[in-house]
Amino acid sequence: MRLHSQSFRAPVSYSTSFNPSMERVREWRDTLFFNRFPGFCDGFKEAPAICRKEVQDYINEVEKLARTLYKMIFQSLGLENKYINTDVPDIPRTLMGINYYPPCPNPSLTLGLGSHSDVSCLTVLHPDSEVLGLEINHKGTWVPVLPVDASAFVINLADQVEILTNGKYRSIEHRVLTNGEKARMSIACFFGPLEETVVAPLPVLIDGNNPPKYRATLFKDYNRNFASSRLQPNRGTLDFARI
Ligand code: OGA
Ligand code: NI
Repeated sequence: MRLHSQSFRAPVSYSTSFNPSMERVREWRDTLFFNRFPGFCDGFKEAPAICRKEVQDYINEVEKLARTLYKMIFQSLGLENKYINTDVPDIPRTLMGINYYPPCPNPSLTLGLGSHSDVSCLTVLHPDSEVLGLEINHKGTWVPVLPVDASAFVINLADQVEILTNGKYRSIEHRVLTNGEKARMSIACFFGPLEETVVAPLPVLIDGNNPPKYRATLFKDYNRNFASSRLQPNRGTLDFARI
């Protein structure tokens, strides 16, 4: 209870569902969030002493992985390193959510996490290696993400990468089912730009044959729209920027 907060801006918070004040059906999950807003707060430093070292060690390593992968996304589109270093927004904003999905007595009534795409640039997810639940929407069909091995991460491309690449890479729609018998845990680390960053399709990827599909939006406004969205299929977060 000491850490309970539904605010997306609290340095450390423990919360339930997604946006209980706006939901008629709650999502079946509790999450412990650590929030790093450069220049504003560092939830990893304020983590409870019992797990402070562990969350710091974890995020420091995952951050390196995320930065490397993020760069590779743009390299894979043929962009020069010089351009990537100067023109692609950095991802200093870090949010880590440790999810606990308790067993649900009637899994048909709700979801662990409703269908959505992640709002930031990319997500490094450590899924539960034993209890299934995560599904991705592949061309209209929900496909379970099967565990490969206990140390494997799942990488989600998120909304800002879809915008930056003008749709060449898509933000993956996903959801988590509930389980009638077993609890499930996961760790999701989200990496994104600063709040004051304007995110728009990269000019090098735009030409006569590839007109912009998204407008430029301030990441702060994008986040605000996300935080106020209702539980709805895919939450429609990308529609905010779609032309
Ligand atoms: C999320 C998410 C998936 C999972 O937290 O945004 O999609 O497996 N989590 O818990
Ligand atoms: Ni997600």
